[in-house]
Amino acid sequence: EKGGYPHFMLKEIFEQPKAVRDTVQIHLNKDGSVTFPDLGWTKECFENIDNILITACGTAYHAGLVAKHYIERFVKIPVSVEIASEYRYSKPLTTNRTLCIVVSQSGETIDTLEALKEAKKHGAKSLAVTNSIGSSIAREADHVVYTLAGPEIAVASTKAYTTQLVALLMLALYMAQLRGTISMDLIHKITDGLKDLPKQIEKVLKEKDHMAEVADRLIKAHDIFYLGRSIDYAIAMEGALKLKEVSYIHAESYAAGELKHGTLALITADTPVIAVATQDAVSSKMYSNIQEVKARGAEVLGIGYEDDKELGKYTTETVRIPRVDFFIAPILSVIPMQLLAYYTSVKRGNDVDKPRNLAKSVTVE
Ligand code: M6R
Repeated sequence: EKGGYPHFMLKEIFEQPKAVRDTVQIHLNKDGSVTFPDLGWTKECFENIDNILITACGTAYHAGLVAKHYIERFVKIPVSVEIASEYRYSKPLTTNRTLCIVVSQSGETIDTLEALKEAKKHGAKSLAVTNSIGSSIAREADHVVYTLAGPEIAVASTKAYTTQLVALLMLALYMAQLRGTISMDLIHKITDGLKDLPKQIEKVLKEKDHMAEVADRLIKAHDIFYLGRSIDYAIAMEGALKLKEVSYIHAESYAAGELKHGTLALITADTPVIAVATQDAVSSKMYSNIQEVKARGAEVLGIGYEDDKELGKYTTETVRIPRVDFFIAPILSVIPMQLLAYYTSVKRGNDVDKPRNLAKSVTVE
């Protein structure tokens, strides 16, 4: 049942090319435009939307943080991203001019389901992005977009996350296409990139043994910092969660520009740093932040493009992803972090598929 892999988590990491290909294909027209026929949306639907709320838990929340960048950039509607267990007990300003998007692999997470009901109570229109057909969340939402990740068994979410990113990116393109806030050239550029993505994922998966080696050096660490800016910050949050969840090593993700406001005090030679640098608009700032932590003695693993000549000058070591559009980069840069979490857990002798204290589907509040 594990298809020759020692654990479900590794199997599911390696299923990402297929999961991504399947999720891309159903939303692509032959002419390279994007389609979500089941939504039945028109340009006019957006005349009644002022803001978008994304709410979810854990990894799905992290996918929402990336989607905020996608939607605001392409669709030009303000997006807020809320942790479901916080949103549902807040006094939200959600109205009937809000579109609420919930993201949930299982479709059964109770806080996400209740957050969706809360948003609907305020009149919001709703859409669920889920991996589970007929799940409670799929039934509760007005509209559903399915990720085609296939069953995810390991508690740590991997292929569900990358397919969520794909589905949310394509949804953002679709909304922008309807509203006329994006050029067809840009849509084609990104959809061409999405068609190539499974191949690019295969390339990044070749870093498996490299990440196993890096894991050897992380297993003794007490604290590991994950840094990024812009979309890379959201990816750093996911990388840190993955490591904590399966390796039980404390990890913290930080917006690299915030380091100076306190956290830099914690950086020493004993705190390895993982630095994600795929967002060209802020790469020079990111290089400065890497130099800051390196100057405090930290070993830095940089994650960046294969043609980035600068990154290696400042880091201890790098892991490279192919050069892709910077909206697509997060779907690749998270993969070395998934592998790193996996190997760190296995090398520490943990039950990587069933980490302590955690359940695959969180149906208690
Ligand atoms: O099924 P959901 O996507 O609603 O689950 C949400 C979180 O419980 C889940 O993503 C959790 O954070 C993962 N175990 C992280 O790997």
